[in-house]
Amino acid sequence: MRTLIAGNWKMNGSRAMLAELDRIAEAAAGTPAIDVAIAPPFTLLGEAVGHAGPVAIGGQDCHQVAQGAHTGCIAAPMLVEMGARFVICGHSERRAEFGEIDSLVRAKAEAAQTSGLLAIVCIGEDEPGRDRGQAAMAVTAELEGSVPPTSTAANLVISYEPAWAIGTGRTPTMAEIAEMHGLIRARLIQLLGEQGRGVRILYGGSVTPDNAAAILACAEVNGALIGGASLSADRFVPIVRAAANLAR
Ligand code: PGA
Repeated sequence: MRTLIAGNWKMNGSRAMLAELDRIAEAAAGTPAIDVAIAPPFTLLGEAVGHAGPVAIGGQDCHQVAQGAHTGCIAAPMLVEMGARFVICGHSERRAEFGEIDSLVRAKAEAAQTSGLLAIVCIGEDEPGRDRGQAAMAVTAELEGSVPPTSTAANLVISYEPAWAIGTGRTPTMAEIAEMHGLIRARLIQLLGEQGRGVRILYGGSVTPDNAAAILACAEVNGALIGGASLSADRFVPIVRAAANLAR
């Protein structure tokens, strides 16, 4: 299974930031054993493809239908036409800010997959859920509700992102990450059979150059989804290199 290091620029970046992408692309060219991906804002997507080299460029969201009267939305085939190869579905910020529920996330992921995109489906408990000891239950429910039946090892990636770890500088312990990823793997196999063994499971939430190697070494961690530290090549490239070293 190839490790995937994916950056999510969220609502950040202007054309000037494509210079960061140039440096990320250069690093990725030197680490062919792993996959590197960046999701810039929609406005930069087309241009980013021209700066990406081996880096896959993707969207941060898509609509669940292919076209129509949906002001302000972007459909999966539109992303494909711009050169996107993946789309993030159900990021916790989409779930929290825009009320996206599991059934909508599943529909978006299915729309992505039927358009030929890799769907990176995000799941993860919030802080009250973890404090109540219900993290495993919440993550299992989100996984079951958000994974479309069209999923295979080739068109689905899961990203486990505890909401309380995103942008906070706090992470679960390595044991907690390994435990949750083990649980997700087991459930993926139940849901998708053999295909579930090959679905990559990323960890996301305050991944930095300092903690990346330890996190990526955890059992069933097949890569990372990175927000803040993906905004500069100085911070993102060391994470790519850490992943490449472990993949050797
Ligand atoms: P962060 O974001 O790396 O800034 O914590 C992670 C994410 O939202 O995927």
